Amino acid sequence: MTLDQLIPSLRTSLRAKLAPGVWPAGTALDSDGDLVIAGARMTEVAARFGTPTYVLDEAAFRRQCRQYAATLPGVEICYAGKALLTRAVARWVAEEGLSLDVCSAGELAVARSVGFPAGRIVLHGNAKTPEDLKAALRYPVGRIVIDSFDEIDQLGMLAHDQQVLIRVTPGVDGHTHRAISTGVEDQKFGFSLASGAAAEAVRRVSAQPGLRLVGMHCHIGSQLTRIGMIEEAARRMIGLLALVRDRYGVRLPQLNLGGGHAVRYLPGDDEFDLAGYAARLSGALAYECGRHRLPVPRLAIEPGRALIARAGITLYRVVVVKDVPGVRTFVAVDGGMSDNPRPALYGARYTVALIGRPCSAATRTVTVVGRHCEAGDILAQDVPLPRDVHAGDLLAVACTGAYHQSLASTYNMVGRPPLVAVADGDARLLVRRETEEDLLARDTGM
Ligand SMILES: Cc1ncc(COP(=O)(O)O)c(C=O)c1O
Repeated sequence: MTLDQLIPSLRTSLRAKLAPGVWPAGTALDSDGDLVIAGARMTEVAARFGTPTYVLDEAAFRRQCRQYAATLPGVEICYAGKALLTRAVARWVAEEGLSLDVCSAGELAVARSVGFPAGRIVLHGNAKTPEDLKAALRYPVGRIVIDSFDEIDQLGMLAHDQQVLIRVTPGVDGHTHRAISTGVEDQKFGFSLASGAAAEAVRRVSAQPGLRLVGMHCHIGSQLTRIGMIEEAARRMIGLLALVRDRYGVRLPQLNLGGGHAVRYLPGDDEFDLAGYAARLSGALAYECGRHRLPVPRLAIEPGRALIARAGITLYRVVVVKDVPGVRTFVAVDGGMSDNPRPALYGARYTVALIGRPCSAATRTVTVVGRHCEAGDILAQDVPLPRDVHAGDLLAVACTGAYHQSLASTYNMVGRPPLVAVADGDARLLVRRETEEDLLARDTGM
């Protein structure tokens, strides 16, 4: 019998505390070691829905939407649906009065299925297919962000009176991982500002009778912490608006500065300073617009992860603990890169907690891996977990609301996990687990 079993009051003091700033606000570990989110016990969620399971705290997401709206009054907040989009999430976004950024006919179909207000939808994509464009025109979405000269011609042939923005690469380095850095010249998105392609795009869009140019767009990358880089991009975009006015006599009322605001995956990570961003941006815009004698444009932003990442966690069951003497200990769980490819894509790091039982054991550094046939199938490299972690234990991974469910695959024919919303002590299924029948349904057997 362990000491904490003999003296139950010791459990609380011996138990590891939850790392600050990475779990949904208000998340607690109870005296049994259970993780409680929005009043719902994660052991019960795991028992009811199985593992792995994505869990989403609805109120945490809504609070973050409101926080953004309150900190940036008058700014259009456009939730980037690529982070996580289900019908329920689309409904929450609509109810919170936000706009929605979609990137395909499929994402648009989700929005349409809940009657998301068409005028508040923005369509993105560097290679929109004819189906994407036709679906957008049919709905019709409020704005389409044009990304290439080909698209100007393709959309011009289909559209009658479609509002569009032009996506610009402002030549600003967001200082983030190469795979999610989109402001610099050498990549596939947008029209280069430096080369003159962006100004040329204005000329060509203006020549298309079916397109109505209303503004400019840029997005310099994701997981950005340096506000100065976004501010620099904004300054350059105002310079472009002035150039377009001077050269073509075109006045553009809208400026969309994209998303990319960072969240905290590990307790020590820098977080995005939203209040600082709001203050610096309004100052920079007022100054630059004054300098160019331009009215301040209507501003829009497109945060995805900053609104939903921290509202989500993932539950896994430990299947195997393997010690490789002198090397490391692997804790293998029942999910992996199929439900979270981010570590493999860009070296993402995570906070992990053992939950579901009282535990007073000291910690040691382990690596949490998945069940897939890739050596790179790592979920959390070098994380502290109690020494007595064993098969059957429940693990919770923090900050998995963004780019997990939406990036999931069925690698190794493993069905994708369910998505469960928690609110007011209740858990309800938003998306069910993918079954073997689902996986076989598309295979014709021919
Ligand atoms: C055009 C655009 N807007 C917004 C976003 C959202 O980024 P984040 O979720 O990092 O805020 C992305 C992400 O890829 C994007 O490409």
